[in-house]
Amino acid sequence: MNAITDDLAFAAVRAPIAAAIAAAQFTGRGDERAADQAAVDAMRAALNALPIKGRVVIGEGERDEAPMLYVGEEVGKGVGPALDIAVDPLEGTTLTAKAKANAMSVMALAPKGGLLHAPDTYMDKLAIGPGYEEGIVDLDKPVDQNVRALARAKGVTVQDIGVCVLDRPRHASIIEALRAVGARVHLIGDGDIAGVINCTNPETGIDMYVGSGGAPEGVLAAAALKCVGGQFQGRLIIRNDEERVRAEHAGLSDVKRRYTLDELVSADAIFIATGVTTGSLLYGVKNVAGIVHTNTIVMNSATRTVAELRLKQPVA
Ligand code: FBP
Repeated sequence: MNAITDDLAFAAVRAPIAAAIAAAQFTGRGDERAADQAAVDAMRAALNALPIKGRVVIGEGERDEAPMLYVGEEVGKGVGPALDIAVDPLEGTTLTAKAKANAMSVMALAPKGGLLHAPDTYMDKLAIGPGYEEGIVDLDKPVDQNVRALARAKGVTVQDIGVCVLDRPRHASIIEALRAVGARVHLIGDGDIAGVINCTNPETGIDMYVGSGGAPEGVLAAAALKCVGGQFQGRLIIRNDEERVRAEHAGLSDVKRRYTLDELVSADAIFIATGVTTGSLLYGVKNVAGIVHTNTIVMNSATRTVAELRLKQPVA
């Protein structure tokens, strides 16, 4: 029996909603740390009110560097299903501090053992939306080859393919190769979870996500694709001994391994995100005459359902 019911999913939405409301108080205030801390505190309190035996497998860092929602922390009331929990209480700390689009509060839940314990390192990522034959794109192939293969499979020209990339100097050669082949490059400042999810929504004009970003965000994005379909491949980027140790602590000794979506998220999962600032996926938090409006998306891979929640509640 699936440990994660829709009832549990709808109880769990309180955690990212609380985190998004708390973080939104810092929108545009230039204080990334305060925004993040507010989100973490609020998410943790809400998680601890849930009837679960939860364990944070992707969180704010190792126990010695993060006082709350650290990897290994037990959350929930200690009754109910044993769950792995991946959290990013504020995905887009800079976006929030600068009042830019696409900041959100994110979490994924799966039965114990269902989520890869990704260490806090970078990950090379490649994602496409649903409806394509498995393996038509490949993390180990040059990006122009992947774009051509995707265009062929979609039945369009390469000029009609949109590729989302984080706007970073380290991605200069990827961006150059994409432009040389004729693809449209959608550059984002931050927030690659939304970047990956956008591949599943034709309205965004994004067909593929490519580049490196946080490994924790990689697992969270994979959890979303597990629910709505699509392909995701990721490989850890280990730059030094400290990162190697982190990976080993997480139980990942083969750091060259390329993970598929089903290896990153090996059981049915729930993905939940609440908007902090308005973006391509969600509306941000808004206060209107003492009522706080939030917008949350709840995806369940077991039922293949996506629910959108517009909640209005009095300001606490
Ligand atoms: P934060 O929420 O920690 O600000 O992360 C935002 C983000 O853009 C992620 O979406 C992405 O995976 C990562 O940062 C990329 O890291 P970097 O900014 O070092 O390129």
